[in-house]
Amino acid sequence: LRDRAAPPRPKRPKYVPSKIDDPNYVRIFDTTLRDGEQSPGATLTIDEKVQIARQLSKLGVDIIEAGFPRASPDDFKAVKLIADTVGTQPQDDGHIPVICGLSRTIQADLDASWNAVKGAAFPRVHTFIATSDIHMEHKLRMTEDEVVENAVNAVKYLKGLGCDDIEFSPEDAGRSRPEFLYRILGEVIKAGATTLNIPDTTGWNLPLEFGELIAKLRANVEGIEGVILSTHCQNDLGLSTANSLSGAQNGARQLECTINGIGERAGNASLEEIAMAIMLRGQQEMDGLYTGIVPQHIHMASKMVSEYSGMMVQPHKAIVGMNAFAHESGIHQDGMLKSKETYEIMSPETIGLSRTVDAGIVLGKHSGRHAVKTRLAEMGYDVGNDDLDEIFKRFKAVADKKKGIKDEDLEALVSEHLFQSTS
Ligand code: KIV
Repeated sequence: LRDRAAPPRPKRPKYVPSKIDDPNYVRIFDTTLRDGEQSPGATLTIDEKVQIARQLSKLGVDIIEAGFPRASPDDFKAVKLIADTVGTQPQDDGHIPVICGLSRTIQADLDASWNAVKGAAFPRVHTFIATSDIHMEHKLRMTEDEVVENAVNAVKYLKGLGCDDIEFSPEDAGRSRPEFLYRILGEVIKAGATTLNIPDTTGWNLPLEFGELIAKLRANVEGIEGVILSTHCQNDLGLSTANSLSGAQNGARQLECTINGIGERAGNASLEEIAMAIMLRGQQEMDGLYTGIVPQHIHMASKMVSEYSGMMVQPHKAIVGMNAFAHESGIHQDGMLKSKETYEIMSPETIGLSRTVDAGIVLGKHSGRHAVKTRLAEMGYDVGNDDLDEIFKRFKAVADKKKGIKDEDLEALVSEHLFQSTS
C-alpha cells in the first residue's frame, strides 16, 4: 500500500491551456487567492498574495486564480504583479502556471481582468453569470434569454480583446435546470469559451448527483468534446472533495480548489485532499487519473496560507491538520512501531513534513507500554521490564490528568522512579 504514496508519476504534459493533451491529466486550478480570500476575515496583502502564488507555482498548480481585479485597486495590482512575475517564471520542469482573473459578464470587469492578466505567459479570464431559477429571478432579475445573451457577449468581448483562454461558469449550476445548462454552455462554446466550469455554488449536490450532472453535460452539450470541463465545489455539506472527485471520474479535467479548503462560508474543495486522493487512488481506482502537483510542497503551502490569512487549520483536518499523522492510542502506536502501513496510507514526508519534528507518535493516556518503551529508548533510557512496569504505571496516572506527555514529563517520571528505587 505504501508504495502507492509515490507511484511512478506520468510526466506532466507540456501544458497548452486550451488543448486536451492527455485525457488522464487532471488540471488543478487553485482559487485560494480569489474564493479563498472571500473567507470572512481572510484579507491578504499584495505581498502575501505574491508569496502564496510563488508557492502555488512550486507546488505545480496549473492555473492560479489570482483575484477579482475589478473588486478593488489592490486586487488589480496583486493580480497584475502575479501575472507579470509568477506568470512568466518557469519552474525547474519548465512549467509556468496560467494566471487567471475573475469577472462578471460586464465590460468594466472584463477589461480589468484582461488588463491585469495579459502580461502572463498564459493569461486567462474567467467570467460567470448565474443560471439557476433562484438566482435569475431574485438576484439578476433576468430572463433565460438575457442571461444567455450576457454570457455570449462577454465571451465574444474577451475574444475581441485578444484573450483566447476563456473560462465560463454558470453560477449555481448545481441547482440549475440541466436543459438550460445544455443551452447556455453550447452557446458560450460557439462564442469561444475554452473551459466550462460547473460550480456547485451552494454545496448542495451529493457526489453521485454531481458526477451525473458532469456526465449529462458531456452527453448533451454541443461542442463539449473540444473544451475542458471543470468543477468548483463549495463545502456547505462537507462534500466538496467527494463531489470534485466524482466530477473527475465523470470526465472533468480541471478541479477548482483552495489550500486548506478556505473559501466562502464553509469553504471550498481542499487542494491537498483532492491532490492526495488522486495521487493515491487515481492510477488504480480512477482509470489512471493524475495531476501535476508536487506533494512535498503541500505542508509549506498550508502553513503559509493559514498564517497569512489567519484561518487556523482544524487539528483533525485531512492531510494538513496537526493530528493528521499523529498516533495516540496504544493499539495504533503498537501497530505503527511494528509497521507504518498499519495506520498510515501515506507518510508525512510525502507532503513535506518531518516525522520527528512535525508528526508521529504522541504519548497520551491511550498509549501502551510499547510506545513508552520506544520513546524512552529514543531518549537514551534502556529500561528493563521491572523498571518499565513501574514507570508505565506512573505514566498512566499522569497521562490521565494531562493532554499530552512530553519528553520532559517522561524525564521526570524516570528520575522519580530512579530516586525512589535507590533511596
Ligand atoms: O461559487 C461559485 O459559483 C463561484 C463561481 C464564480 C465560480 O465562485
